[in-house]
Amino acid sequence: MASETRCILIGEGATLRLGSAVGEMLRGGECVALSGQLGAGKTTFVKGVATGLGVPPGEPVVSPTFVLVREYAGRLHMYHIDAYRLSGVDEVATIGLDEMLNDAAGVTLVEWAERIEAALPSRLWRVRFEHIDFDRRAISLAAPDDPRQALVERAVAAIMRN
Ligand SMILES: Nc1ncnc2c1ncn2[C@@H]1O[C@H](COP(=O)(O)OP(=O)(O)OP(=O)(O)O)[C@@H](O)[C@H]1O
Ligand SMILES: [Mg+2]
Repeated sequence: MASETRCILIGEGATLRLGSAVGEMLRGGECVALSGQLGAGKTTFVKGVATGLGVPPGEPVVSPTFVLVREYAGRLHMYHIDAYRLSGVDEVATIGLDEMLNDAAGVTLVEWAERIEAALPSRLWRVRFEHIDFDRRAISLAAPDDPRQALVERAVAAIMRN
């Protein structure tokens, strides 16, 4: 089993669909680390995850850049963190990161995860985005285990067929 799945997603709809597929695979107590430059598609992916987790459309996902963390209620509780403005691992204690990570009925998604890498668990979902041009993004996605990596491979194949 490949340890990560790579693909090129064309248009934000494709990123939303992959995020939604991953949202359906989440079981709770997991962390999803998102990296990639400004505008690469991290928040777009999180919007898809919210859909896959059954967060009602009436609770639209908006970037947590200024509040640092937003919470949503779906099949699992979704914590959405933007580490862009966090000064580093010292500041994560102030936002209650450990409580979020320890919530077995929650999932924690972190944009700019590389900024607080040391505070994150070693076993996580890793999603890396690379901006190619205005509507194309190269994505690499590593699931925390082989069975779900296989599900990711299938989800990507289905998205590529459409
Ligand atoms: N294939 C694609 N995947 C994701 N976003 C895309 C794609 N094509 C175009 N876009 C556009 O790129 C923008 C991505 O913005 P988004 O907020 O998701 O990025 P971000 O990585 O969260 O940025 P930031 O670092 O500022 O939080 C959106 O306007 C979206 O419509
Ligand atoms: Mg964002």
